[in-house]
Amino acid sequence: MNLRQLRTRLSVSQPADAAGVSVCLDEKWEKFARQDPYRYILTSLAPSDTDEFWRSGERTVQRDFLPLLDLHRVPRLVCLEVGCGIGRLVLPLARSFQRAIGVDIAISMVARAASCAEDRGIANACYLVIRGPGDLLAQLQNHSGKCDFIYSLLVLQHVSDFATIQGYLGAIRHLLHPSGLAYLQFDSRPKSLSYRVKTALPDWLLPSLWRRGIRRIRRSADEIDAAIRTAGLEVVGELTPHTAYHRYILRRSPATAMSAL
Ligand SMILES: C[S@@+](CC[C@H](N)C(=O)[O-])C[C@H]1O[C@@H](n2cnc3c(N)ncnc32)[C@H](O)[C@@H]1O
Repeated sequence: MNLRQLRTRLSVSQPADAAGVSVCLDEKWEKFARQDPYRYILTSLAPSDTDEFWRSGERTVQRDFLPLLDLHRVPRLVCLEVGCGIGRLVLPLARSFQRAIGVDIAISMVARAASCAEDRGIANACYLVIRGPGDLLAQLQNHSGKCDFIYSLLVLQHVSDFATIQGYLGAIRHLLHPSGLAYLQFDSRPKSLSYRVKTALPDWLLPSLWRRGIRRIRRSADEIDAAIRTAGLEVVGELTPHTAYHRYILRRSPATAMSAL
């Protein structure tokens, strides 16, 4: 099946997002996916170095994910990536899980992830186009409380509407197994004066990677912590806090985990 056929098969016609949050598929990310997914996913990548792109995913899985999953004794049944792009992480991680699910807002990202999995003979991974957190819940309703590992890297940092982030946190809590783990990255650097000035400028004055859609949006740790608590999750660890690559390791908070039993 070629990329065009996959796009047709994956194109969505669902109703508005059930949570009423961020219902439109992201046109900017669709454009980025068609132009150069490698560059827009990994902005630090040297031009056309696709080998390094795939190696970087393999490294993250081997060095960051698997030791953490071992440490927390997370079962290896179902993993879910929110904002999977073309499968840089979900493809190598699929080898360690019975079933791997990647969801993304851009049809062309999902189509390419599916074709990359097919090329590599990975049969236990599946991909879904979603409209937002409510649609994620609707499409994965059979997976409520069944996902052992839910992760999202280089995604929430681009989401401008905080209600969408709050919606994803709620959806993640709902889908997470009571003993499962979530691993979410944010950019929590302080909002410096230069950041504020840059953010206020119109796109046409900015270099392409600083423009709306692809630029990173900084969130304060207080704001993220409050959203995590509101969603019924709790922080069990943090990696490189107050940086552009601040990762939160989360579980369902005990009260919500108990109520699911
Ligand atoms: C920088 S890429 C990261 C891809 C992948 N996580 C990785 O690390 O290789 C960001 C991805 O998030 C997706 N995305 C952006 N906004 C999203 C949203 N609101 N919901 C789901 N996916 C989103 C984009 O389409 C894109 O594939």
